Amino acid sequence: MEQTLSIIKPDGVVKGIIGEIIKRFENNGLKIKAMKMVRLSKKEAEGFYIVHKERPFYSSLTDFMSSGPIVVMVLEGKDAIRKNREIMGATNPEDADTGTIRRDFGTDVEKNTVHGSDSPESAAFEIDYFFKSLH
Ligand code: CMP
Repeated sequence: MEQTLSIIKPDGVVKGIIGEIIKRFENNGLKIKAMKMVRLSKKEAEGFYIVHKERPFYSSLTDFMSSGPIVVMVLEGKDAIRKNREIMGATNPEDADTGTIRRDFGTDVEKNTVHGSDSPESAAFEIDYFFKSLH
């Protein structure tokens, strides 16, 4: 069993598709082990995306991620990191496969509806960032 961090971004919350997204995870064998709705400060968003701090989109990304409430979840299942990334689709909704969350609901590469950990190392960091008390 593996755990990964999932975030429904502000655009997903505004669109009213929290339930639809959770249903896709559950229908694909991922269990919700922890979940909360939070509004990040700019500083908290910067801390979460610290690996991207040198990227040109860092400022805009962290503005967006602190612009409204998000839903943060720990998903658990066999191959959870890879499975979640399959369900989400490619980072840019234009490149994402039909039937993926980002293809169906994403607007652009920034407003791409969901985030998911991309490796066991990032999953450990990201789960700890939001759910330290679970460890
Ligand atoms: P996410 O999975 O949350 O991880 C980093 C985010 O940066 C990514 O999804 C995108 O929403 C965002 N982002 C914004 N601009 C870009 C870009 N040009 N290339 C990659 N990611 C970008």
